[in-house]
Amino acid sequence: MNAIDPPASAQALALAARYGTEPKSSQLPWNDVIASLLEHRSVRGYRPDPVPPGTLETLIAAAQSAATSSNLQTWSVVEVTDPAKRAALAELANNQKHIVECPLFLVWLADVSRNERLAASEGKTLEGLPYFETFLVAAIDAALAAQNAVVAAEALGLSTVYIGALRNDPERIAKMLELPPGAMAVFGLCIGYPKPESAAEVKPRLPQEVVLHRDRYSTTKENDLRATYDARLEEFSKRQEMSAYTWTDRVINRLSTIKALSGRDRLKSIVVGLGFPLR
Ligand SMILES: Cc1cc2nc3c(=O)[nH]c(=O)nc-3n(C[C@H](O)[C@H](O)[C@H](O)COP(=O)(O)O)c2cc1C
Repeated sequence: MNAIDPPASAQALALAARYGTEPKSSQLPWNDVIASLLEHRSVRGYRPDPVPPGTLETLIAAAQSAATSSNLQTWSVVEVTDPAKRAALAELANNQKHIVECPLFLVWLADVSRNERLAASEGKTLEGLPYFETFLVAAIDAALAAQNAVVAAEALGLSTVYIGALRNDPERIAKMLELPPGAMAVFGLCIGYPKPESAAEVKPRLPQEVVLHRDRYSTTKENDLRATYDARLEEFSKRQEMSAYTWTDRVINRLSTIKALSGRDRLKSIVVGLGFPLR
């Protein structure tokens, strides 16, 4: 930028942060909702301050406003307040301390048990229920609901982080939370106010051309753009996490060994055991 350039617009700054680039002038459709979405960042350190009264109810109303496949509403959520349960959840999730620290912790469930109970009380059998499709519907429903809660929380000035590591041991969670068959924890969610030292920067994403395809899937530019993104994420990680890693490193570390799955290599049989036959 030279001295006569005008200051970058809020939109240009938000897009630059999201993609790890310099601000470029842009005139995209824009409003406060989109600005808030682009500001998202996960936070892994929370102050003990409680969230304002009524926050949970607002977040759940937002979650219930998400689309849900055929209006089946195949998800539920458990607020966990018991410190002993929080500690056990943190431990099974590779000792993620924010699970204990955050003022509000939610466990999101793929849940077809309510539909099973409905059928039982009507004396009906749900032949469509034992299929993989139904588990997928329930997991998608839970994710869409939770993401609406995240968007609502961030719009209220709160921060969040999802906890997929709950899938390290869904059987223990099912016992702990007394889940019926047909209900399984798919991820957790920490909500609260960040500690000042945990206030994260926006983490850059892949260039849009890598994920957006038009009429046909194309990988022509993928390698070059991955190299570009590797450099951007390496810069980000140096600034934020004080250990330089590229996206390529991160993907390989996360997926190249079974050990890195932290027990989730057994997930298919666990899901079946929790009441989703996955036919
Ligand atoms: C389903 C899901 C599970 C996740 N599980 C964890 C987790 O167990 N621990 C954690 O620190 N972050 C977790 N994350 C957060 C991701 O690491 C994070 O979203 C990603 O690195 C991008 O960073 P950002 O959210 O700050 O943009 C999870 C995210 C999703 C969507």
